[in-house]
Amino acid sequence: MNAIETKGLVKKFGDFAAVAGINLEIKEGELFGLLGPNGAGKTTTISMLSTILKPSSGSASVWGKDLLHDKDSVRKSIGIVFQDPSLDDELTGRENLDFHGRMYAMEPGLIHERIAEVLKLVELESKADALVKTYSGGMKRRLEIARGLMHKPKILFLDEPTIGLDPQTRRNLWEYIRNFNKKDGITIILTTHYMEEADFLCDRIAIIDHGKIIALDTPEKLKEVLGGDIITVESTDSNALKKLLEGQVFVKETKLFDEHLNVSVDNGGKALPKLIELAQKNKITVDSAVLKRPSLEDVFIHYTGRTIREEEASDKDKARMQVKVGGFRR
Ligand SMILES: Nc1ncnc2c1ncn2[C@@H]1O[C@H](COP(=O)(O)OP(=O)(O)OP(=O)(O)O)[C@@H](O)[C@H]1O
Ligand SMILES: [Mg+2]
Repeated sequence: MNAIETKGLVKKFGDFAAVAGINLEIKEGELFGLLGPNGAGKTTTISMLSTILKPSSGSASVWGKDLLHDKDSVRKSIGIVFQDPSLDDELTGRENLDFHGRMYAMEPGLIHERIAEVLKLVELESKADALVKTYSGGMKRRLEIARGLMHKPKILFLDEPTIGLDPQTRRNLWEYIRNFNKKDGITIILTTHYMEEADFLCDRIAIIDHGKIIALDTPEKLKEVLGGDIITVESTDSNALKKLLEGQVFVKETKLFDEHLNVSVDNGGKALPKLIELAQKNKITVDSAVLKRPSLEDVFIHYTGRTIREEEASDKDKARMQVKVGGFRR
């Protein structure tokens, strides 16, 4: 069975299509990623699949239930961790979980049992009775994931699970996410604009831009499309260099983005000196040349001609993390 199927899913805000016709088949047990820049339509897609937003058109089924006609069943089969923090800082971890259990009309005995289980899963037992405002960023995110798992969902949506976290905490969280998927068999759909995150965690990735899927495959296959190595060249005259390289047998493809030129080649080690020599002969200054294996960032550039601009995005993340989204403040 497919955990999720969508056909021509569209969400319009006025005339603007935030999600412009998405077709997906996500398998049971998959760890699936939606990767794309700010404003690509990731959250909007997840909001539709979790019944928070009504699609403008198209259809979808979640764990075999129709999204439009069987909302209650869909809700029971999913858990969600929102992009913006939504814990109550003035409550303890245990109280936040208890509140969630009541919202889902779980039996008090079961709530008690599940709180112990999910706290163990995210290793927060010792912090259970501390106020959430005393938690670190990583602990808060783990508690939000624990909350998403309270009612034993089949599918867990994680919207930017490691947003605003430092690299070490991020890696630590990756281990939890992977375990929920591989050990506990929970189907996970996550969104991210961090390339390494999608690459490391996901079985398959849909790259999404302007509300459309522009590529969908395993991380390995996506990178294979580029073939070989990539030399990224910085030059004051990258246009002239591009023209010059286009005619060379050792060059497979050239792509300009921002001030940089990406050159795809079979053998980077051999091609790099040739490239520099050729530039010198033609009096084109090369300021820097970096050789690397293709990354998902290069895949994104390949399809869109743009970078995902992680730095810009992470500034936005930091600003977001500072905004308190209190939920239900007393
Ligand atoms: N309620 C709304 N009303 C109007 N426009 C909206 C609304 N929600 C989202 N949008 C727009 O839809 C587009 C997609 O937004 P969405 O939040 O889905 O992007 P995203 O991929 O999650 O981006 P990010 O990485 O910043 O979280 C954006 O242009 C956004 O401004
Ligand atoms: Mg988003």
